Amino acid sequence: MTVHIVTGTQWGDEGKGKVVDLLTEQVDIVCRYQGGNNAGHTIVADGVKYDLHAIPSGILRDNIISFIGNGVVFDPEQFESESAKLKEKGVSVTPEKLMISPKTSIIMDYHKVLDKCREEAKKDNKIGTTGRGIGPAYEDKVSRIGIRAADLLDKELLLQKIKAALKEKNTMFVNLYHTEPFNAEKLADKYFEYGKILAPYIAPTDFSFAQFSEGKKVLMEGAQGAMLDIDHGTYPFVTSSNTLSGYFSLGCGLPGNKVADNIGLVKAYTTRVGAGPFPTEDHGSDGEKLRRTGYEFGTTTGRPRRCGWLDLVALKYVFEMSGITSIALTKLDVLNDFDTIKVAVEYKSEGRKINSFPASITLCEKIEPEYVELKGWKCNIAKIRSYEELPTEAKEYISFIEKKLGVPVSIISVGPGRDETIVRKEYLSLF
Ligand code: GDP
Ligand code: IMO
Ligand code: MG
Repeated sequence: MTVHIVTGTQWGDEGKGKVVDLLTEQVDIVCRYQGGNNAGHTIVADGVKYDLHAIPSGILRDNIISFIGNGVVFDPEQFESESAKLKEKGVSVTPEKLMISPKTSIIMDYHKVLDKCREEAKKDNKIGTTGRGIGPAYEDKVSRIGIRAADLLDKELLLQKIKAALKEKNTMFVNLYHTEPFNAEKLADKYFEYGKILAPYIAPTDFSFAQFSEGKKVLMEGAQGAMLDIDHGTYPFVTSSNTLSGYFSLGCGLPGNKVADNIGLVKAYTTRVGAGPFPTEDHGSDGEKLRRTGYEFGTTTGRPRRCGWLDLVALKYVFEMSGITSIALTKLDVLNDFDTIKVAVEYKSEGRKINSFPASITLCEKIEPEYVELKGWKCNIAKIRSYEELPTEAKEYISFIEKKLGVPVSIISVGPGRDETIVRKEYLSLF
């Protein structure tokens, strides 16, 4: 078995869906191992746009097995609507193509309500979550009161577990948030019905993913981005899972020593949705231009994404922890029309140099990035398909990134479509 990892190295939305879809041609299995339907991965294939949230991007190809690992939080209600939308576009979601680990945590109705109640209660200090119940579902998992996919198949057990999970929550809903309590019996009926739908997808309990994937090429589809990692991101303005590439091993139960390559997705500039530190955010016309040109609006919530320049300090911090072996540089075409392109290469705080991304949120908010300015190429690169044909300034931008991060750029994306991609020859040999 060989493992190929694709993870976001910024604050999400780096173009993981597009790159996973591209590489899917070369593999047998595509696996989601963390996060949930807070993700929004857009793929444009043969002119058709697909928005995937919970289902791995491998689903678009019939010869690929998509796998949802134990590290994921999964909403059966949302799965139904995502499957239906895919079906409308001619993509079948069947148990032959999709498998769900019995250990996957289930997002319940009360998680979604709790997520929203908590955000509303925060008033001026909101995290800006996607409202999909991600945090509360992970909380229940680590509190050992979570519902797992296998539990949906046993009605008695399901009812018992829902009752246990609601014990504290209903008190909170009624007394703290002044909303309706949940009825355990009704929920057990509802989720047992989902269990019937999911049963053929839930891999049998004696199923070992490691055994199943022996001799196969497995592509790990990361969700979110490294700076949203629960441990290493801009805590508390993060998501509730580990988004760094190393988590793949735990999130689907595969040994960590089978990694053939670990591709870090770097958007040619930076975006962030939701609140929290974003040192290179541009509040002026450049930020607005990046948003407009890059069409930076959330796939999951439709929110305008905050935009700014590439941040090599944050990236260096992420690369040091991740063992990235090559970079997929995306949305380079969005920079087509800038006279100069700014890149943050150093941080200062109150006039003093900071060497790495600070752990303290107070320090994060005081970061003053130091920029270098590179010359823009001022022409449309969307139709270019080989590295050699790129304008000199674009090549200089790429070399600058490679030099600072010490990792080669092997894939360059110049548009949303499958074909709008430059794959550097040396990369092909990795597969
Ligand atoms: P993900 O969450 O990392 O999969 O990224 P999203 O799909 O949320 O956001 C990336 C957006 O940029 C999607 O709408 C893609 O179709 C689009 N996209 C991906 N690569 C490129 C590119 O190279 N150029 C342009 N212009 N758009 C791209
Ligand atoms: P993809 O996979 C960008 C952000 C939310 C919020 C924070 C916590 O498309 O890159 P959550 O609902 O997870 O508790 O919200 O994390 N967030 C994302 N931002 N892309 C994503 O996924 C994200 N998933 C969560 O906006 O700031
Ligand atoms: Mg996205």
